[in-house]
Amino acid sequence: MNAFNQAISNIGVVPVIKLNHPERDAAPLAKALCEGGLPVAEVTFRAAGADKAIKIMKETCPDMIVGAGTVLTVAQVDAAVAAGAQFIVSPGFNYKLADKCQELNLPYFPGCTTPTEYQMALEYGYEVLKFFPAEQSGGLAKIKAMSAPFAMFKIMPTGGISLKNLEEYLSCPVIAACGGSYMVKADDIESGNWDKIIDLCKQSRAIVDKVRG
Ligand code: 3PG
Repeated sequence: MNAFNQAISNIGVVPVIKLNHPERDAAPLAKALCEGGLPVAEVTFRAAGADKAIKIMKETCPDMIVGAGTVLTVAQVDAAVAAGAQFIVSPGFNYKLADKCQELNLPYFPGCTTPTEYQMALEYGYEVLKFFPAEQSGGLAKIKAMSAPFAMFKIMPTGGISLKNLEEYLSCPVIAACGGSYMVKADDIESGNWDKIIDLCKQSRAIVDKVRG
């Protein structure tokens, strides 16, 4: 894996974030993730102002790896990059996004769950693919089956991952890192329950450390 992918893989868990009030919540959330041992975030464009959130998180915690998720259009890539996003994630594979990210030399993790999509990703030489929605698409059993013909890829599953199945996913050598929103629940963000978020991040990190030694 290249150094950037390895850095994400070393952290092991990527919080997937949706912020309705970036000006209020992005800074304390960035601090909570770093304090909890998960200094990485996929900030989704499911909420308006995702680019604002990315900018604030990078300013608050400059060493944190902050990327954009649920990116569906080239315009969103532009907005994310202008805000300082270091990687782009999309739920599916999109050639326009792939070309744009290649042009910008920006890491792109397309969502792929089928042999056809894996083959499309192969054309671009990616090392790590998002696998979304993981549990609903066949989970670890499908990821392992896909790794037989596609041993060149490491996988970043998201969708349905929690503290209950994190260890099982991370124990599979095909997994680069797991993504999830279970440690950044909307209610806890809304109520500013940063201590709970820090605790869930620490529990996640402990599982990463246990599995990876
Ligand atoms: C994603 O966009 O990657 C997922 O929505 C995260 O899935 P989860 O909410 O089930 O963790």
